[in-house]
Amino acid sequence: MSIATTAPAVEITFRDVADTTPVPLPAVVGADLRVPLVDGRFVGYANLDLAASAVALRAVSDHVSQVLPYYASVHRGAGYASRVCTAVLEDARATVGRFVGARDNDVVVFTRSTTDSLNLLAGCVPGSVLTLDIEHHANLLAWRGGHHRVVSAAETIEATLDALRAALTAQPTALLAVTGASNVTGEVLPIARIVAIAHAAGTRVVLDAAQLAPHRRIDIAATGIDYVALSGHKLYAPYGTGALVGRRDWLDTAPPHIAGGGAVRAVTHRNDTAHATWAPAPHRHEAGTPNVLGAAALAAACRTLEPVLDTTAPEHERALLRRLTHGLDTIPGVHPLTIWTDAPDRVAVASFTVDGHPAGRVAAYLSAEHGIGVRDGKFCAHPLLARIAGGADAVRASCGISTTTDHIDRLLTALHTLVTRGTTWDYAVIDGRWQPTPDPRDPDPFKLNGRPGETATSWACGEQDPVGRNFTSSATTVNA
Ligand SMILES: Cc1ncc(COP(=O)(O)O)c(C=O)c1O
Repeated sequence: MSIATTAPAVEITFRDVADTTPVPLPAVVGADLRVPLVDGRFVGYANLDLAASAVALRAVSDHVSQVLPYYASVHRGAGYASRVCTAVLEDARATVGRFVGARDNDVVVFTRSTTDSLNLLAGCVPGSVLTLDIEHHANLLAWRGGHHRVVSAAETIEATLDALRAALTAQPTALLAVTGASNVTGEVLPIARIVAIAHAAGTRVVLDAAQLAPHRRIDIAATGIDYVALSGHKLYAPYGTGALVGRRDWLDTAPPHIAGGGAVRAVTHRNDTAHATWAPAPHRHEAGTPNVLGAAALAAACRTLEPVLDTTAPEHERALLRRLTHGLDTIPGVHPLTIWTDAPDRVAVASFTVDGHPAGRVAAYLSAEHGIGVRDGKFCAHPLLARIAGGADAVRASCGISTTTDHIDRLLTALHTLVTRGTTWDYAVIDGRWQPTPDPRDPDPFKLNGRPGETATSWACGEQDPVGRNFTSSATTVNA
């Protein structure tokens, strides 16, 4: 990485790339969290919602605590703590770059999240953008300010690649924006092949790695990916930082993502107007005081996950996914969703509908009666859900390094109980969301005297479908 830093170096050790000795799965904060049920009992929390936001790694939390006493301004402070924080920030930049296999002259821009990263890149693309219709809204809506085309995924990955090739050949396209793994089904796209197809058409590729990065190693240099966008909070580093990593030229010539201090070389005042000479990337796009703790957290996650993703994590998660998918297949009335019939790989995410049970009610039941956290809705992927679930809401269980077989078994048992015996509590739609009635669980365990729910946005990723729809046959891809 060609990241210049004038601050003291922070020592970071990396394993030899040839060393594939299995590394134990790292500890997470809150693995022993106990949550209340509506009947007054407490149980260990089965967090099967890691695709939305993952718990913090213990190493991440420890590193943030280690940096916190030094917390001070970065880049312009002469004090010792400022110099340490500057080193932490710039080493974090290099660490994140290494984690995704960045090329020497690639740039790492710290952002808030994948959404922020994609929006930043949208301001830099010198031409039209192509996406598939399977994408998360972040990777659909970011491009709407410019010329944006959407290709429908076909029934197989092979046919989908053909459709992409045809669309790229038909019209000059500056950028193909594609997810590494579906946030709905976990299916993984063959990214190196996609890059080859795009590059043959003179098109660059940005990988939305929000869902792939927590599960598989990404290698920009080896695959030829031009840009990678990722989120710390999905990578077990929930401290408000994400990153955009990739080629310098577009980032160096585009207007700054956010204008302000830190993004400029010089500012002059002429004819009542402020004129800026913008700094090159990454600083050009990082105006304002950077989130040093967020960057430190993300880097600590990268250091911790790097050896784990090379060895232990994928096998752990594949075993969980096998257990989950086989279990779901055996429960009557449960219909797993898939996009393709030939996906060669899949991260441990499974979405499904349940005959006769609205997704929101299933999720509320799993939480209230079993202490299981899942996601319900359309997962900010409305076009995809319209195609593979007929527009209905679904339930999503997502796993990671903190997931155990006990979590999976509890989910499967709870679903089996639901379809065979029903719920033992009552549920109703209140403020647009399914909730247990009554709900005696304490909504304010920290005694903040807030009124949770007052500002809840049940519509944040589309309104919940309160009625739900019955599915009598397995919902699979209908090619548009
Ligand atoms: C595939 C995918 N892309 C982008 C995003 C947006 O991530 P963030 O909310 O961290 O910006 C998500 C979030 O769920 C996602 O799953």
